[in-house]
Amino acid sequence: MSTSNDNSPSDKKGHIEHAGATDESIQRVHAILLREQDEPKEGFTPMPLFLLGFISAMIFLGSVYFVQNRGDFDPLVYDTRYDAEAAKAAASAPKALTPEQIIAKGKVLYNTCASCHTPSGMGVPGAFPPLAGSEWVNGSEEVLVRILLHGLAGPVTVKGSIYNGNMPAFGPGGGYSWNDEKISQVLSYVRQEWGNTGTAITAERVAEIRKLEASRSKPWSEAELLPLEKR
Ligand code: HEC
Repeated sequence: MSTSNDNSPSDKKGHIEHAGATDESIQRVHAILLREQDEPKEGFTPMPLFLLGFISAMIFLGSVYFVQNRGDFDPLVYDTRYDAEAAKAAASAPKALTPEQIIAKGKVLYNTCASCHTPSGMGVPGAFPPLAGSEWVNGSEEVLVRILLHGLAGPVTVKGSIYNGNMPAFGPGGGYSWNDEKISQVLSYVRQEWGNTGTAITAERVAEIRKLEASRSKPWSEAELLPLEKR
């Protein structure tokens, strides 16, 4: 029997199983690792300046791009046949008036005539001939436009009565200098008012006759106009 003692510490020591790490060493390493970390903080961290700047720049550049490419929110912009210049010109061009609007404008313009020919168009016997029922008003536009452009002087027969006065020129050189539109409007008005039966006269027709008579400077006489009336 050996003297060895199974319970001796020295013996025991020799048989201790060595773990990879002891409790103390684990705790020590953890302490080190924890010390390396930042202390946890409360509250929030402000947005990094770079990110704020980047987002702001994106919003700004996006706005600039949008404004430059919005196409005025016009759905036709995506039409390949769309011509922006032509569309702009068409929008700013004066709109053609309806016949009713032309008559309405002529009625206002007639106030100028009414001082002589009277508001009822009946004229003043012996001084101003009538426009209501007048053969000149209801007759050829060739003649009527010429009377307005350069005036009328000397004896003239209207509805069987002879007048001898001076009808002022409303065209070039006269005191009024009305344009083609105004002359066409007032004549279109008088030709359908007071039971008159004349047709409307366009500004284009007035312009043509104005051109034809560009060299004329004196008022017409009845003798000059009567042959034109039959044309
Ligand atoms: C300052 C007065 C005066 C004004 C304003 C005047 N007229 Fe006359 N008008 C006359 C006179 C006078 C005659 C006759 C001329 C003559 O005797 O040769 C005449 C003749 C006429 C005639 C031919 C004869 C007839 O009675 O049909 C017509 C048409 C006419 N005027 C239309 C007009 C129109 C339209 C206006 C307005 C844009 C106008 N006149 C403004 C004085 C005026």
